[in-house]
Order: sequence, then structure tokens, then C-alpha cells
Amino acid sequence: METKLIHINANCTEPTPEEEAALRQAGEIIRNGGLVAFPTETVYGLGGDALNPASSRKIYAAKGRPSDNPLIVHICRFRDIHRIVRRLPEEAVRIAEAFWPGPLTMILPKAEAVPRETTGGLDTVAVRLPSHPVARRLIAYSGGYIAAPSANRSGKPSPTCARYVSEDMDGRIEMVIDGGEVGIGLESTIIDLTEENPRILRPGYVTQEMLDRVLGKVDMDVTILDPDSGQAPRAPGMKYRHYAPQGSLVVVEGEPGEVAAYINRRVEEDRRRGEKTGIIGTTEVLEQYRADVVKCIGSRGAQEDIARNLFSILRQLDDEGVTSIYSESFPEEGLGQAIMNRLLKAAGHRIVRLPAGEGGSCRD
Ligand code: TXA
Ligand code: MG
Repeated sequence: METKLIHINANCTEPTPEEEAALRQAGEIIRNGGLVAFPTETVYGLGGDALNPASSRKIYAAKGRPSDNPLIVHICRFRDIHRIVRRLPEEAVRIAEAFWPGPLTMILPKAEAVPRETTGGLDTVAVRLPSHPVARRLIAYSGGYIAAPSANRSGKPSPTCARYVSEDMDGRIEMVIDGGEVGIGLESTIIDLTEENPRILRPGYVTQEMLDRVLGKVDMDVTILDPDSGQAPRAPGMKYRHYAPQGSLVVVEGEPGEVAAYINRRVEEDRRRGEKTGIIGTTEVLEQYRADVVKCIGSRGAQEDIARNLFSILRQLDDEGVTSIYSESFPEEGLGQAIMNRLLKAAGHRIVRLPAGEGGSCRD
């Protein structure tokens, strides 16, 4: 299959007549059961008609994703939610008022209209109303309900620009819409509202503190806080080793100067063994690092930059053939929870915690 690439100026909420025509054509593709990758404010999505079981099967095939891993249904107007959920708890309305349109997904009881192919066999459904103007127009032109996982091949980091989508999806889907680089760079926060207490299943740009303020206390899924808990994650997708670079990745936590010295030592050893080495570091410490490839993820205090750069840096390290990667660790406050969740997943939870002083302990 030949994958058509179209460009839409993401910053313009009013598309040109040509862009408008292209978006309508994209909508037609989805209505006819085809797949279109498109930008959202978080990461690029791989969209198909959420109410068509054949479309969802195609999404799993294109991604190479296990079909027990449910998809998020994207809508463009709040009122469209009633067709796909059986019951709308009062918390859902409060959350929608506070955070929609935006980077937040709610898990709710599913209505008949949503096929089990879309929800990976579950009787709950994930719903999100994105803020990206291109995404919202596309959803409207597609009939109102787009099932969309991140537009990466399974096991790769979520794509933050159209080039990465094309690398993964060319020849597998009908169209890619290039709307430039995304703003956030990490996938949406997921909150489960189907149980007694609201619970975060995946941390994201909408933080626990922000949700606490709207709902009172919200819980964090234990499998996020403690990957060794032995419990199955409640978002099935969280159990897979996502976002993994080809090279091995180790996260190092400690005082910045100590971290740099420790990483440089490990890099030296790895180099002697013939590894191609890479480091993910912050602006403040960058010039202390010695490795084949050193990537700047942003300034230590600039969490939004760190979030936006993470997935792209993981892809770049792969592209440059780096086989052994070390990264600084980041404080788990606010958006830092989501950053560390994705970074530790990419590292297969390998983290070295340096005690103040010297040495280190490794949890491999
Ligand atoms: O920001 C985002 O959410 C992006 C953009 C494209 O919207 N989408 C995205 O989708 O990240 P995906 O498929 O890569 O991740 C969806 C996650 C998976 O971990 C999946 O298991 C979980 O949501 N999920 C979906 N439906 C669920 C349900 N009914 N119950 C529990 N978890 C669910
Ligand atoms: Mg994904």
C-alpha cells in the first residue's frame, strides 16, 4: 500500500481551502475503514473508525500490537460521549470541565456501540477529547469517533513528529498527516473512573496534584509506583516493555557531579568492550560528559522541555546505532512523575542510586 503524506499547518485553527480538502479526504479514508496517522497535542496517533471492528483489527496489525491492549476512543465534542459510555459518573463531568479538551483520558463503562475489538475485549472504554485543532477537525470529518493508539510500531517510543510516524508506518496505512512537532511529547494521563476511587493508570501532563484539586484524593496505580508489586497493571498496555530503545539504557540518580563522574566511568568501561556509548543529560552538566554521543534533554528545571525531548532522543540514539546508554534521573514531582515513568520503562527499570559520597547500588 502506498502511504500518502499531507502537510497541515498545525498552528492555524483555520485551514486553507487545500488543507480543508485534504482533511476531508482523510476523514473519508477513516469512514471507509482505512487508517490515518495524525498529530495530537501529546503524540501522533494512528486513527481508525472506533465503531468499526475491522478498523480496530487493522490498527493492531499495522502497529504489530497484541489485540488484548485496548485503544483510546477520541471525540471532538463532549456531547458525543453519551453514545459510547453506558454511565457517566459525576466525576467524569468535573474532570471534563477542568481538563477537556486536553491531554487526559478517562476509563468509563462501555456502551453497546463500541465493539470489543476496540476495547481489547474489556467492557470499559478509554475516552479522550484532544485539544489539537487538526485532530479535532479530523475526528469531526471521520464521523466523530476515532480509535487511536500512539502511531509507533509496538516497542518503539511514541512518535513526536511525522517523520518518526513515516519511519514506522510507511506502506502499512493509507495516510500520514504532518502537523509539525507535538507540544507535550508524552502520552495523555489515564484516569480510571469505573471503580470506587478514581485512580491514575498512566501519569501524564495532567498531574496527580491537578486531579487531586478537582476530585479530592486520587490514587496512583500500584504497578506504576512499584513495578515489582507482582500485580497486573490495570491499563493492559502498561505491562508491555514500551518505549524501549535498541541499546541498553541505565538511569543514574544522585548528586549531579557524582552522576556525571559515575556515568563517565561506566562509559569508559563499555567503550573498552567495544560498545557505542550515549548519554542523556541536562544543560547544566552536559560539558562534563564524555561519550560517543551526548544528547541534551533540556535544563534541569525545565520539565516541559524534558518531556518533549525524551522520546525523540531515544529514537535518535537508536538511529545513531548507540548500544549502551546512560541517563540522568529527574525529580518525580508534577510532570516529573510522567517523565520518570516513561524513562524507567525504557530502561526496563534499571536504575543506579548513588549514595551521597561514592559507590552506588544497582537495581537491575
Ligand atoms: O496521548 C495519548 O493518549 C495518545 C494519543 C494518540 O491520543 N494515545 C495513546 O494510546 O497513548 P496508546 O494506545 O498508545 O495507549 C493507550 C493506553 C494503553 O496502555 C491501554 O492499555 C490503556 O490506554 N487503555 C485503553 N483502554 C483501556 C481500558 N478500557 N482500561 C484500561 N486501560 C485502557
Ligand atoms: Mg502507545
